[in-house]
Amino acid sequence: MILGIDLGTTNTVCAILEGGEARVIPTLDGRTLLPSVVTFARTGERNVGDVARRQLVVHPERTLHSAKRFIGRRYKDATADLGLVQYEVVETRSGECGFRVDGRTFSPAEVSAAVLQRVRQSAEQHLGMPVTRAVITVPAHFDDRRRQATRDAANIAGLEVVRVLNEPTAAALAWLRSRKGAMKACTLAVYDFGGGTFDVSIVRVEGDVAEVRATHGDNALGGSDIDREIEAWLLAEVRADGLDLAEDKVARQRLRDAAEAAKIDLSTMASVDIHLPFLGGTPERPYSLVRTLTRAMLEARIAPFVARTIDACRRALQEAGMVAADIDEVVLAGGSSRIPAVRAAVGACFGRKVDLTLNPDDVVALGAALHAGALAGDGAPVTLLDVTSLALGVEVAGGRFATLIPKNTLLPAQRTQMVTTASDNQATVRIHVLQGESPRVADNTSLGQFELSGIAAGEKGAARIEVTFAVDTSGIVNVSAVDTRSGARRAVAIKAPTALRDDERARMTRDATEADATARSRRERTTLVAELRSRLPALDTAAARADFDAAEAEVAAQRIRDALAADLPLQDLRDLAEWSAQVTR
Ligand SMILES: Nc1ncnc2c1ncn2[C@@H]1O[C@H](COP(=O)(O)OP(=O)(O)OP(=O)(O)O)[C@@H](O)[C@H]1O
Ligand SMILES: [Mg+2]
Repeated sequence: MILGIDLGTTNTVCAILEGGEARVIPTLDGRTLLPSVVTFARTGERNVGDVARRQLVVHPERTLHSAKRFIGRRYKDATADLGLVQYEVVETRSGECGFRVDGRTFSPAEVSAAVLQRVRQSAEQHLGMPVTRAVITVPAHFDDRRRQATRDAANIAGLEVVRVLNEPTAAALAWLRSRKGAMKACTLAVYDFGGGTFDVSIVRVEGDVAEVRATHGDNALGGSDIDREIEAWLLAEVRADGLDLAEDKVARQRLRDAAEAAKIDLSTMASVDIHLPFLGGTPERPYSLVRTLTRAMLEARIAPFVARTIDACRRALQEAGMVAADIDEVVLAGGSSRIPAVRAAVGACFGRKVDLTLNPDDVVALGAALHAGALAGDGAPVTLLDVTSLALGVEVAGGRFATLIPKNTLLPAQRTQMVTTASDNQATVRIHVLQGESPRVADNTSLGQFELSGIAAGEKGAARIEVTFAVDTSGIVNVSAVDTRSGARRAVAIKAPTALRDDERARMTRDATEADATARSRRERTTLVAELRSRLPALDTAAARADFDAAEAEVAAQRIRDALAADLPLQDLRDLAEWSAQVTR
């Protein structure tokens, strides 16, 4: 069984293919969306999902959310996003983003791993068997670093990633399945506007083949940016009332939660009242905020965000070599696509009504489950042809970026380049690999300096090293090299840079496994305690009878009462449950 997981900035959804149909697996709390929120207690215990989400307003500086906004990013590239969260984001020694809580630093991958582990647990509970493999979706615009970091997160959570799938592509697969093969040929525009990211893809469907023609997006544009905008307005309103709450983290979080709630209500209502009692002030003179936000006010504030997404849609069309009239269907994904102004703008951009038959919350996960099923050999296979969302290239003289594999190239893609040495007997060559759109190295994302070593000695320029750059179907970059001089082909060793060191990864995996065991035994303890407690009435009744079993029943009832009062080891509880079951019989 391979899980399909939509690891979201705000919510995570897991689905599987069951009886030929993709279905969402309920969370351990019985819901479909798992908030991607985690708290790590000093004791090593962790809370994930709804429980952690409720903590956010009480302990905003210790509750980790939106990890996806930071995963696989260098700190210096992420500074504009620091205001999205109230916990401390620091630069780690290797230049990555780290989350600082109670004197410990957590990596974004570790937080995502905690979410994925919870997902795995709910899937295992649902299926009644261990699960070790998954298809995980990422925004189409994620670069190689961010894809690798997401894969790292899954590995820490005990999941092997069989494929990293682009979110809009997954949504297209789910849409296609919902039409049950009724569509022979059509062109889709998939507009995915979630909590933290935005993507649009143009997908051509012909028979069983779905081919992504172009994709565009923004990894730092989502519903949380809208919330932040409304929060800023509320903060200004509070200031107009003569109070400055900018430094009050709890008040800020209450404002942000109120902002999100108002935004969601405004998708169905024309105006909402925001009322936040006792937001600040003193016990003698408490301050309460009361304001009205109308849909028109919201639309005016979010217009620049919507415009950015529409701009991306136009560019995707252009890159696909199409015009709006070529689009047959517009598929929506992501919670932010529920905003009426967004729907109207997208409809206007493509000149047609958007499709509202699918639930934008789970299409991505359902598509991931369908693809997982296809990879496992179940279900009708759709041949999926996806493309690179960013150009891949290397640094050349003068800080310039030379493209090797252009954007929107069909995956898997490969390009071989001949490299030589610049001095006599040079034993290593460094290749700076980057992804991005700009002709300038400085504006693109550095994937790192790949170091080739073991080059045969010789005069400068004599070495002939064939370096192959490949992007696999998951959008992950691999670099390999061979020394082809004198006819003999010899692999050149490559040291690829990685975000997590091996010891860090091992430590995180160990912590995750321990937390898994703790969570398991806590669940078992809760079940056993409930079971023992439920036996008491029957035992008490038996003890009151004057036959030969009464004495044993009385002992059993007493032992259960003692056990419930004390904190017995799990094994003792198990033994007691087994023994008392026999007595009850
Ligand atoms: N009815 C609604 N109207 C407006 N916004 C909504 C509505 N419902 C949910 N949202 C917003 O949608 C966002 C969450 O969407 P979703 O769960 O699709 O995101 P995600 O998958 O976690 O994020 P991403 O795909 O960007 O990583 C939140 O910002 C939420 O406030
Ligand atoms: Mg999403």
